[in-house]
Amino acid sequence: MARTVVTMPGDGIGGAVLEQALRVLEAAGFKADYVHADIGWEYWKREGNPLPDRTLDLLEKHRIALFGAITSKPKDKALAELDPSLRDRGLVYYSPIVAMRQHFDLDICIRPCKAFRGNPLNFIRRGPGDTVEEPPVDVVVFRQNTEGLYGGVEWTAPPDSVYDALMSHPKFRANFSRVPRQDLAVSTRIFSRNACRRILTAAFEYAREYGYRSVTICEKPNVIRETSGMMTEEGRNISGKYPEVELWETNIDAQMMWLTKNPEDYGVVVSGNMFGDIVSDGFAGLVGGLGFACSANIGEEVAVFEPTHGSAPKYAEYDVSIVNPMAMILSACMMLDHIGERDRAAGIRKAVARVIEEGRVRSYDMLKLKGSPEVLRQGASSTEQITDAIIAAM
Ligand code: NAI
Ligand code: MG
Repeated sequence: MARTVVTMPGDGIGGAVLEQALRVLEAAGFKADYVHADIGWEYWKREGNPLPDRTLDLLEKHRIALFGAITSKPKDKALAELDPSLRDRGLVYYSPIVAMRQHFDLDICIRPCKAFRGNPLNFIRRGPGDTVEEPPVDVVVFRQNTEGLYGGVEWTAPPDSVYDALMSHPKFRANFSRVPRQDLAVSTRIFSRNACRRILTAAFEYAREYGYRSVTICEKPNVIRETSGMMTEEGRNISGKYPEVELWETNIDAQMMWLTKNPEDYGVVVSGNMFGDIVSDGFAGLVGGLGFACSANIGEEVAVFEPTHGSAPKYAEYDVSIVNPMAMILSACMMLDHIGERDRAAGIRKAVARVIEEGRVRSYDMLKLKGSPEVLRQGASSTEQITDAIIAAM
């Protein structure tokens, strides 16, 4: 029986890369019915809602989705571009991605950062003498996806009840009580024990299943004692159930320095929301960056797979698309893994690896060219040609 997959192209290059991923899935023999769902800037402009209820309904019903990318713009632009008939309704733009993660509690974000051999964008390091080493980076970041600093619980000029609660804390009284209320901005970092346990358990299970030697909790418990402290404490408890996996602990700041020093030492890394966002971009940068960075957002019921790049508006209108479809194709592989089609996913990854290693077909980013329509004459392949090569390699 064919399964149904919701497809959300979104804005800009989202549609172009999603189309290529669907070609690859088809070539891999994956049978599905695809149902389109609306998301992004166009729906904000037209309807005042970038994540319409009908999209939530489709996700609720079908539970598996591929998502391209969306465009977000600052407050003033959001209002200026809203359909005139909607302007005086007090609508406020919100990120449909964050909203989708929170609505379906997609609390587990997985971001693999594995170097493909022969990728000219791979991190290299000087060894002794004049030697150059290319460490085999293979890191999978588990990011708590719904809480922490991105949880959205925040105020400028906090209301009385919040202000009074803050004043009950001696550190607030000592350091902020003289600041005028309208000059105070407060963004909370809330962790809950259950969410910590879920992301940690997901990380350890993954390490066990895929044979990673270590799980590194990357937080900052020496300074952020309560939230990072809870994540670390739970991690220590849970690690007892996985004796074959070593538990490592690093601080986010030191980790960002170390990841360019000994990136090959790390396996699974687990963090709260913001630090997970940061450390996953850090590791992604060592294995080719945005053109390769895939991700999964997984909840108990719904799972959404997406490249971590955005809508790259400046490339969206090209007659021939030049962006790298690999991040989206690798995200589709994560979807296949999730639904138990691991062999098919492995086959696609192998083809991607072969195309990269052979080096005949290169996206502009792999050639380190500045993106422009000219790159196609400078030796870069188009989005479609890259996909053609992957399909041929399969
Ligand atoms: P971006 O990811 O769209 O682009 C950053 C840089 O990477 C640009 O130079 C872009 O051309 C390049 N790039 C992106 N994807 C690429 C690919 N597949 N192959 C080759 N090069 C690629 O981020 P930016 O420019 O900060 O934001 C553009 C828009 O995207 C904004 O409206 C932003 O809010 C939105 N955005 C959406 C995200 C999402 O949908 N998940 C994530 C990040 C940004
Ligand atoms: Mg990010």
